[in-house]
Parts: sequence; C-alpha cells; structure tokens
Amino acid sequence: MKFKGWAYIYTIGCQMNVYDSAKLLSVLKFLGYSETKSLEEADIVVCNTCTIRHKAQEKAYSFLGRLSKLKKKKPHLISVIAGCVAQQDGEKSLKRLPEIDIVLGTQSFSRFAELIDQVKSGRSNIVDIEPRETIFEVMPDASDVNQNEISRFVTIMQGCENFCTYCVVPYVRGKEKSRRPEAIIEEIEQLCKYGIQEVTLLGQNVNSYGIKENDISFAKLLKRVSSIDSMKRIRFATSHPKDLSDELIYAIRDLEKVCFHLHLPVQSGSDRILKRMNRGYTQKTYLEMITKLKKECPNIAISTDLITGFPSETREEFQETLNLMKAVEFDSVYAFSYSDRPITPAMKFDGKIDEAEKLSRLNELFELQKFYTEKNNKKLIGKIEPVLVEGKSKKKMKVEGEPVKEFQNIINTTQMMGRTESNKIVHFQGCNIRPGMVIDVRIENAYPHSLWGIV
Ligand code: 5AD
Ligand code: SF4
Repeated sequence: MKFKGWAYIYTIGCQMNVYDSAKLLSVLKFLGYSETKSLEEADIVVCNTCTIRHKAQEKAYSFLGRLSKLKKKKPHLISVIAGCVAQQDGEKSLKRLPEIDIVLGTQSFSRFAELIDQVKSGRSNIVDIEPRETIFEVMPDASDVNQNEISRFVTIMQGCENFCTYCVVPYVRGKEKSRRPEAIIEEIEQLCKYGIQEVTLLGQNVNSYGIKENDISFAKLLKRVSSIDSMKRIRFATSHPKDLSDELIYAIRDLEKVCFHLHLPVQSGSDRILKRMNRGYTQKTYLEMITKLKKECPNIAISTDLITGFPSETREEFQETLNLMKAVEFDSVYAFSYSDRPITPAMKFDGKIDEAEKLSRLNELFELQKFYTEKNNKKLIGKIEPVLVEGKSKKKMKVEGEPVKEFQNIINTTQMMGRTESNKIVHFQGCNIRPGMVIDVRIENAYPHSLWGIV
C-alpha cells in the first residue's frame, strides 16, 4: 500500500480503549497511513476518548482544543473524536469544537474507512453514533507487535447491561455482546505467532460471557485459551461480584496459565449504598465470596474498585467501606471520588457530597490501603516467584534493594523488571535475561509499589 500520510492516536481511559485504538490503527494502516508519535507531523489525528468520570471527559476536550488550533494551521489534517465521549455527546461535541471532521461512536469502527474517504472528498462534521448489532469485524493488526512487547489485551465482549446507577458505560458502550470463541482464539493464536506471551481478556463483566448468546461459559473460554501452547499467561478483567461463579473460581484454581489474581470491584462496604448503586450484592455476600476464593486459591491476589462520596453516603457508611478493606486486605485498590455523569440515575440523586469531603475520604482510604499493599507485598519476602520479564527497569535500585532516585537516565543494563502472577512489579538483577522469559526470582525486599529480587 502506497504511503498516504502519518496517523497520530491519542488514547484516554481503560484497557478496552487501548484495544480499540489498536483496532483504529489497523484500519488506518490498511488505508496507507503509518503511525507517528509526533502530533505536529500527523495528517490524521484520532482522539479515542473516555467519559467514565468528568475529568476524563475534560481531558479529551482539552486535547481536542489543541487539535483545533493545529487544524487551523494545517487545513488538510483530518481530525477524529472516537469512543465514549463521541458516543455520549454526538452532535453536541461539534458545538464545542466545530473543527472536528468525524465523530466516531463506540459501535461505528467498521465505518471508519468509509468516513475518512468522505472527508477526503470534501465532507466534514460527520457524526456516526448508530448502535450496531455486529461490532467485532474490525480486529487489531497482530503484525505490529514490536520486539519487546510481551503482553496484549483482547476484547471478548462489549457493552454492559448492569446499569449501576453511577455509571455511564451502559449508555455509551451499548448492549452486552459476546464475541464468538473461535474469533477470540484465532486472534490470540495470531498474537502468539508474533511473540506475545501474555493475554488479558477484556469485558465489562466477563462473568456473563456467552450467556446471552447461549455460547460456552467464561470458565470454558479460559480453558480453550489455556490450550494454546505458546501462550504462557492469561489474565482477565473485569468480574462483577454478583455473577462470580464457582465454575470460574475452580478455573482459576485449576488452570495453570490463569494468573492467581482477581479484580473484583466492590465499590462500597455499605449495604444501603450498594443497593442505591444497584450492585446486586451485600457486604456479607461479597465477603463470603472472598472467603471461598481464598479457600480454593490460597495466596490469590485480590484487587478492587471503590467510590467515595456516592450521593448521600454518610461518614458511618464510608467507615463500613474502610471496615471491608480491613476484612479483605486487598492487594491493590483503584479508588475514585464520585463524579456526576450525564444520563445516569445517580445524577438526580439527592444528598450530593461536597468535593472536599469526597477527596478527604479518598485520601483516608488510600492511606489505609498503603498499609495492606505493603503488608501483602512483604508476605512474598523470601519466596521464589515466577516472573514474566517485561524489560529493563526504569527504576534504579541498589543491590540490597533500597530504591534510589526514580527514573534516572542511566539504566543499569543488568537490572530488569517483570511481573509476578499476582501482577506485582519486581525489579531484579540478572544477566542474559530477555523480555518474554518466565524466570524464578527470589524476593528479597518489598515496598509499597514494587518488589526487589534476585535470580
Ligand atoms: N464516579 C466515580 N467513579 C466511577 N466509576 C464508574 N463510574 C464512576 C463515577 N460516576 C469507577 C467504578 C468502576 C471504575 C471503572 O470506575 O469504580 O468500577
Ligand atoms: Fe458500569 Fe456497573 Fe457495567 Fe461496571 S458493571 S461497566 S460499573 S454499569
């Protein structure tokens, strides 16, 4: 294909957006574009957006503001807003930024090439946010895996129908749809051919994979992926506690390649708040799940998502979240202060909490979690952990493990980093070790964000 120009893709948001950007890049490559990391050089710029919280949405519009200025200087530049903000705002995004050529919704990727053609023949301000039945025709190009890349995301389902009252995802990602297992396996086999060793299977709620389609269960899909010889490690996200099946717990326990790590977002420790969030479980049932999980899979790492300051959350109810954290002792926590999202029911809820209070609860929560993350990391001292090597360390540590100034320019060539099955970062000293190898590392020391070990 003749070179048609440079493409710049700016991705905001979750792992699914990273995957979606790879899909958009594969369309652009098919049309003759090559990827550039320089915005100024680009002939087409795509901003793949996120709207999960207000801040993410504003990050998109601020980048698009920069892009508008660039387009004034370079009129042939094709500008695209893609993903969740595009789907949410549609025509409205053009009011904020009239210079945009294409508003590409989350289910419109299969029309991307055609819309670029339309812009080239003189059209602008095209909005395509139609919900569609089939959305898995566009696949990322496995051949662009680079030499040091060892891990990739693969989307196995799209959309969500859980309608948690604070969440915009069901409105911007549409109805839940599972991808055919054959297509998933084919994509993973391709990735293996290009040297990928670890795959993370993505969906808003992987536990309900295949149910609507009457296809195989998620646990059975894990088994199929496990049978791909050259795939070394399998991760997945996200599981919804209300659908965590025994079959999945046993699959994590029994399938060697499935990592001993579960991300199980709880959001709150208070039953009243969980009900108002429409989560479909209580603190008690969540804790029962954790007990079962820890019994079947001892030493499994558990992470979660939490929201502070959901409308009408009292200090006592927030304290219940802290109590739950103490009971579970999570390995890591992703926590956010509640953000009002358009269209969601919670936006109309009374009892909105003051910003400063939401942030103060968030900080209190992070402070508590620091203790448990370090405690769990310290449990690994003296243990031999299989580590999937990712590359050279960006951090420099002394041999005895004390971290020194982060991100120094000089990289110690023998200092490498990788991840344990539980997804913890390990820096270690070693020679003749290449990315992609799984090696046994003895953990010597533990810090809040990483481990130090020797081979
Ligand atoms: N405000 C704050 N956090 C939110 N999340 C989703 N919607 C909101 C919101 N309106 C968080 C949830 C979810 C994670 C991906 O983002 O914790 O699990
Ligand atoms: Fe949002 Fe709830 Fe669906 Fe997760 S399960 S994407 S929080 S609606």
